[in-house]
Amino acid sequence: MKNFALLGCALACGLAVGTAVAAEDGPPPWAWGFTTPMPATIPPPPPVAPQAVPKPDEPKLTIEGSKFSFSRTEVNHRYAPADWFPDEHPSMPKIVAVGRESASPTIYACALCHMHTGKGRPENAAVSGLPYDYIIRQLQDFKAGHRKTSDLRKTNTGLMEDFTKSMTDAEMHESALYFSSMPSTQWIKVQETATVPKTRTAGGVFFVLEGDKAGTEPLGNRIIETPVSTEGFELRNAHTGFIAYVPRGSIAKGKALVTTGGGKTTACTICHGVDLRGLGPIPRLANRSPSYVARQIYDMQHGNRIGAWMPLMAPVIEKLTNDDVLNIAAYLASLEP
Ligand code: HEC
Ligand code: HEC
Repeated sequence: MKNFALLGCALACGLAVGTAVAAEDGPPPWAWGFTTPMPATIPPPPPVAPQAVPKPDEPKLTIEGSKFSFSRTEVNHRYAPADWFPDEHPSMPKIVAVGRESASPTIYACALCHMHTGKGRPENAAVSGLPYDYIIRQLQDFKAGHRKTSDLRKTNTGLMEDFTKSMTDAEMHESALYFSSMPSTQWIKVQETATVPKTRTAGGVFFVLEGDKAGTEPLGNRIIETPVSTEGFELRNAHTGFIAYVPRGSIAKGKALVTTGGGKTTACTICHGVDLRGLGPIPRLANRSPSYVARQIYDMQHGNRIGAWMPLMAPVIEKLTNDDVLNIAAYLASLEP
């Protein structure tokens, strides 16, 4: 196939490895779920508290469309997060449903962060519908220390790395098989706007302020990706997705870069597929979290994502500015999954 011949050449012809540094500021805080730039010194994160044991007298919560009820501790249980809609996904391998607590480093259930459907959230990654080979390669890259976060305040990328250090080949295989079999369906809606609801941030995610603090503010040169329902997010409801507010005009500018390269880069469609839903072992980009996409491109530009296949992406991202990346992320998120 023509496209794969091109990939073969890009690998064999030895294109520059992904350490190119674009002349830019630091990591764009919005993509990491922060409102301020990364400070020069970062205090070490507090130690992780042990997993709380669900108490029998804790109030049970419900969500529309599910016949189950769970306490808040059960919803957030690292080794068995609440599965509200078990009919909506195939039966899960143990590593996805409960992780492996006894491992050292310990492994949380993949479903805790990526959700049972693999749809993921802005502070981690969508893993549904990614190619099996791609998932395996990423797990190996994390394990080799080839995927790091550029904003050191983000601690969950380090957790993800720790899990892969403990994962067996069988666990990698089972989780990759499971998530690659899950279809990707609409999860993020994109809206161009100049004004956004005021938000607060917690755990790398923007939440719309409510009550007395509610209001609006200029969006400026950011993307604000926020849960459609804060309660849905907190209860890990796979039926309530995300809205991404993007600057006016960003989708068209992103489209030009993605589909033609705009004289600055290579059209993404050549490798990621004409519909940007992935091609062979290359991941889909359509309807992906714009925060995630922007983080990845920044990480690649700054030598923090240097996996085996990065030589293919290195020349693509070399000349992209943070503004280009914002526009690209807005356009990609706006596409049908
Ligand atoms: C504590 C939360 C958490 C858990 C639990 C977790 N991950 Fe992740 N995962 C992350 C984060 C964070 C990232 C990277 C996001 C970033 O760097 O911006 C990630 C990235 C990934 C990616 C890369 C996706 C891509 O498009 O390149 C894969 C694959 C993945 N995780 C698989 C798994 C599997 C399999 C498990 C279960 C063993 C798991 N994760 C458990 C947080 C988590
Ligand atoms: C020459 C082929 C090629 C072109 C052109 C290309 N990519 Fe990629 N891209 C790849 C490969 C290969 C990977 C997977 C890298 C890996 O395995 O770690 C990738 C990965 C990515 C990822 C990470 C996805 C994830 O799930 O973490 C993003 C984001 C991305 N590309 C964006 C783009 C954008 C935006 C463009 C166009 C401006 C583009 N790519 C053009 C080959 C390409």
